[in-house]
Amino acid sequence: MQAFTSIARASKRSVLRSANWRTVAAYTTHVPPNVAPGQTTQSQESTKTHFGFRNVLESEKEQLVGKVFANVAEKYDIMNDAMSGGVHRLWKDHFIRSMAPGPGTKLLDVAGGTGDIAMRFLDYCKNIHNDSSASVKMIDINPHMLKVGEQRFQATPYANTNQVSFLVQNAEDLADIPDESVDVYTIAFGIRNCTHVDRVVKEAHRVLKKGGRFMCLEFSHVENPVVSKIYDFYSFDVIPALGQMIANDRESYQYLVESIRQFPTQPAFAKIIRDAGFSTVGKGWEDLTFGVAAIHSGFKI
Ligand SMILES: C[S@@+](CC[C@H](N)C(=O)[O-])C[C@H]1O[C@@H](n2cnc3c(N)ncnc32)[C@H](O)[C@@H]1O
Repeated sequence: MQAFTSIARASKRSVLRSANWRTVAAYTTHVPPNVAPGQTTQSQESTKTHFGFRNVLESEKEQLVGKVFANVAEKYDIMNDAMSGGVHRLWKDHFIRSMAPGPGTKLLDVAGGTGDIAMRFLDYCKNIHNDSSASVKMIDINPHMLKVGEQRFQATPYANTNQVSFLVQNAEDLADIPDESVDVYTIAFGIRNCTHVDRVVKEAHRVLKKGGRFMCLEFSHVENPVVSKIYDFYSFDVIPALGQMIANDRESYQYLVESIRQFPTQPAFAKIIRDAGFSTVGKGWEDLTFGVAAIHSGFKI
């Protein structure tokens, strides 16, 4: 396994940047958004974007998101199971089956967090193809999340192989990833946290080889009015309370549910993917569980 010098370096930087992330996570909730999903506005002073339902300066958002994930890193996996009743596992399994990677596939898993996608990818290659030549590079802006991922891999057959490596980097600027160097690019439940969704998708297009595939698993929008009502109740009344109970952190989970509502709709995100140069098959996405989540996908032709 590749050394974690980059994580250590970034860790030090982030600690220096903010002595106590937890205290800064508090913010007003349920404020109607003035900024349209996936868009930014230009004010006289500076460009604004959204952080949950708050409008913030673009320059602030990255740090605010960093605080959320630094706060939740240790409890992230337990909370995912608690919030979704384990359904996120089924979505992720389906995501990897839809990818159906062949032997030797080079995957770049961006916003990889604690490694759910990377682990499933390697397991699929091992179990389906008996392949140990496939590899995944996990990228995340947050060294705390990546560190939890690294520890998790230590207890697997992939530890101390070059099948998995880790890098702290911003999805909007994958400076260390060469052009046309990866077969598949994945981003799961990560892109809605990025300040410029369009830049993330353009970077994906740059680093993919010709014929390569972009795949995004993300919370999305429910059209069915009955399901939508239940989902809203669950999101705003249950999830933050679970966050408080399990992770002692209501605000981070309030942000998570608000950020879902701010993400572009399925067709709007499919357009961003096509505008970045990808070709999509059909409409370009598959809804999961009534659109609570969706898989968007595009090919670099
Ligand atoms: C909800 S977690 C998803 C983790 C994992 N992919 C999964 O499916 O369980 C979102 C991740 O996105 C990362 N992230 C947020 N903004 C990012 C950015 N601009 N570049 C790279 N990673 C980012 C966070 O640090 C966090 O680890």
